[in-house]
Amino acid sequence: MDKIIIRGGKSLSGRIPISGAKNSALTLLPCALLTDEPLTLRNLPRLADVDSFGHLLNQLGVSTMIEGARPEDFGRVMTLRAGRVTATVAPYDIVRKMRASILVLGPLLARAGEATVSLPGGCAIGNRPIDLHLKALEALGAEIEITAGYVTARAPKGGLPGGDFGFPVVSVGATENALMAAVLAKGTSTLRNAAREPEIVDLCNLLVAMGAHIEGIGQSTLVIHGKDRLHGATYRVMADRIEAGSYACAAAITGSPLDLIGAKLDEMEATVAALRQAGVQVDEIADGIAVRPNGTLNAVTLSTAPFPGFATDMQAQFMAMLCMAQGASVLTETIFENRYMHVPELNRMGAHIEVKGRTAVVHGVNRMVGAPVMATDLRASMSLIIAGLAAEGETEVSRIYHLDRGYERLEEKLQAVGADIERVGGD
Ligand code: EPZ
Repeated sequence: MDKIIIRGGKSLSGRIPISGAKNSALTLLPCALLTDEPLTLRNLPRLADVDSFGHLLNQLGVSTMIEGARPEDFGRVMTLRAGRVTATVAPYDIVRKMRASILVLGPLLARAGEATVSLPGGCAIGNRPIDLHLKALEALGAEIEITAGYVTARAPKGGLPGGDFGFPVVSVGATENALMAAVLAKGTSTLRNAAREPEIVDLCNLLVAMGAHIEGIGQSTLVIHGKDRLHGATYRVMADRIEAGSYACAAAITGSPLDLIGAKLDEMEATVAALRQAGVQVDEIADGIAVRPNGTLNAVTLSTAPFPGFATDMQAQFMAMLCMAQGASVLTETIFENRYMHVPELNRMGAHIEVKGRTAVVHGVNRMVGAPVMATDLRASMSLIIAGLAAEGETEVSRIYHLDRGYERLEEKLQAVGADIERVGGD
């Protein structure tokens, strides 16, 4: 298996292009199922999960064609067409490798009247149930059945009537599935306490571009007036605010001036506020954001929360940065129950972090030392890269297939701004 080797202590400088957002791409791709016309998505990131989702859609009868990137985009163009949906089953061997496959449930139900998806099971950061997805679809009129590890959703004969649902817990994926089902329902649907992440706004904007009628975009109450059909569209995937935040943490921990091209300040306000609290200057520039550390980092206390709060997907990367801050930071992870697996690895590099339940106390240290470490999940992997950039000596990160799921061309982007980082083939 591949590994990444970093020789830390280098200061970086320059511009890093931010790719299309993984967590937007994975909900925009299944929208192809909602129409028999072509859907063209621009700025798609080159990531393992995007490729896997394309293969899943192929199995459902969706044709996919990849073109190169347009000059103004970093990512590729993919044109998808679900002329006919030839299957409505997402099999276990695909879902177990990519839990975002569950996002075909809503669109398949809406277009074909039924969908069967393997239960995704848990993952490294938590057991990740899908009960809210199913309750929301039931509220829209679907009949749900779970047998032998698969969930089947069926619409009544006349089609999905639509309905109202209040989410007891904010859920990005469940909001996405409900939205993609409601747009083709017979009536009007209201989703309350819906997720408000920028990726949800991106999804709503695509659905509207395809002819959907959605009110309250960006708010926590969404009203969707169902349509008989949607048409094709061409749409550009938003920039990845988590990738941008990750590289901002790399700039901060190495005391390096970096410009993050394509990043949008208003999509990452909580991250920027926390960086500024840590003493890092962050400004909007014509084509992105400029990160200008001042050489020392202040301790920060924060809790993760649904948007517009501090993103759980930024917690591990921010913690890595705070390992070198002055004083003790206190981070509380409120979204997932097991999202501190990066802690023992960071401590092996000389960090001093204590975890008590959902709270981690990060006692700042003056130096970290490179070591062989192991990636456990996507964002934990990036936290090890960030620490390795500042640690003295060599850090070897193994199991970096986790990284390839969410960070496009990571070592190229960091090499281009002066990092001593390379990917080596494993044994
Ligand atoms: C999305 O996951 C993202 N993934 C995650 O990013 C992100 O961490 C998460 O949203 C929160 O922002 C994609 O968009 C592909 P949730 P999702 O439903 O939709 C509980 C990354 O690193 N819950 O908002 O699965 C759940 O257990 C990944 O890029 C239920 O109880 O997250 C969690 O505690 C990791 N029942 C909370 O809600 C449900 O039916 C939020 O989960 C669904 C969720």
